[in-house]
Amino acid sequence: MSFRGFLERQKSGGRLVAIDKTISKKLEASGLLKELDGKPVLLDRIKESKFRVAGNVFSSKELVADYFGIKPAELIPKMIDAIEHPSKPNVVEKAACQEVEMGEVDLDKLPILFHCEKDGGNYISSGVVVVKDAEHGQNLDFHRMMQIGKNKLSVRIVAERHFDKFIRKNRKMPIAVCVGNGANVLLAAATSVALGQDELEIANTLEPLDVVRAKTFDAYIPADCEFVLEGTIDLEEKVNEGPFVDLTETYDKVRQEPVFTVWKVTHRKDAIWQALLPGALEHKLLMGMPREPTIFREVSNVVKCLDVSINPGGCSWLHAIVKIDKKNEDDGRKALEAAFKGHGSLKHCFVVDKDINIYNPLSVEWAMATRFQGDKDIVVIGKQKGSSLDPSSEPDTHQTYKMGFDLTKPLVAKGKNFEKAEFPNVDIKNYLGV
Ligand SMILES: Cc1cc2nc3c(=O)[nH]c(=O)nc-3n(C[C@H](O)[C@H](O)[C@H](O)COP(=O)(O)O)c2cc1C
Repeated sequence: MSFRGFLERQKSGGRLVAIDKTISKKLEASGLLKELDGKPVLLDRIKESKFRVAGNVFSSKELVADYFGIKPAELIPKMIDAIEHPSKPNVVEKAACQEVEMGEVDLDKLPILFHCEKDGGNYISSGVVVVKDAEHGQNLDFHRMMQIGKNKLSVRIVAERHFDKFIRKNRKMPIAVCVGNGANVLLAAATSVALGQDELEIANTLEPLDVVRAKTFDAYIPADCEFVLEGTIDLEEKVNEGPFVDLTETYDKVRQEPVFTVWKVTHRKDAIWQALLPGALEHKLLMGMPREPTIFREVSNVVKCLDVSINPGGCSWLHAIVKIDKKNEDDGRKALEAAFKGHGSLKHCFVVDKDINIYNPLSVEWAMATRFQGDKDIVVIGKQKGSSLDPSSEPDTHQTYKMGFDLTKPLVAKGKNFEKAEFPNVDIKNYLGV
């Protein structure tokens, strides 16, 4: 389903917040979206642009599950299946994303938001970058981009990402930046799979996808997206990128990053720009969700894993909560050791029993308070390279101290019972008449 198709579905289900007041793309739209975090929002009138803006569109697991027509609990198996069984998208000749071609490229005409006071500029944060290497084929990634001119942006490329490998090898490359995608493309772009695996094939298994050839180079792009920016990225031309808010909601530093020069912009008639608030729930969800299947798979190799949540409280990157069906006393410890193999940036991991709600921080903290002892239930992984996003890791090496917490109860209680007491079920309507 297209981005706009999903917005329509939210509208007809009464879940879309539509705002028709005129909103500025500078320091206003972002404030509104933040205030309404977790709810899909459509901004009908943008002061500086003729295009509408939609944000927070996939800002909860319920919304992503609704996109696929499944329950949130079915998302991890669905993603595992897509990663294990990629399939070729359908190639079309004519595509909605190429319906209209902007004359002379002028990025000021697009509603590229200026999010927070100290930002270095207007930022594209929802753009999926499509790039093609002669040897490895196509790759899809997210890369934030700061507008530095009418047709130029500086692109944040984390070292060792596949795009980073491609650009260091090719120095100058054509790319397409696709904005306004469905959850199949967004989730696929956020996965980290083997070099050479075209993530559009993962997107296609998640949900069948049409692709079209880009206008200016030989690569395939999602046919149904809202906007496409095509141009060249050049490693020899570097400028400052930042400051910008990252996943942890803190400011990232300014770095020298390569410039993307845009030669062509195409879009749908009446196109809708996708805003993606940095550090907010949608950003967190898209970062964290693709790591849940990788942790789930590793933990399942050693114990019975029931569910994994890379929770927003841990920036949806640094913490994970793993639910297991404990059968042996050392299952918690084994699960923790495996979880760290499933996600290299994991810093703290918590393993809980099947009676704990891993989506409720109160429930997890209750398990920690009542089932955990610091002298025997901590698994120390120790100092290792962690996430560059963690403000507390060592600034240059990103060394960080990793630990796991076994919050499962012993199989046989020696002292007090570990079960939560059950209260009688009543139907409140019979008492309050509501
Ligand atoms: C919303 C979002 C924004 C992201 N922004 C960036 C970015 O600015 N730079 C970057 O290098 N990676 C960014 N990432 C991470 C990469 O897209 C992601 O890790 C990618 O899956 C790595 O893929 P690869 O294995 O093909 O290198 C972002 C991810 C998401 C979900």
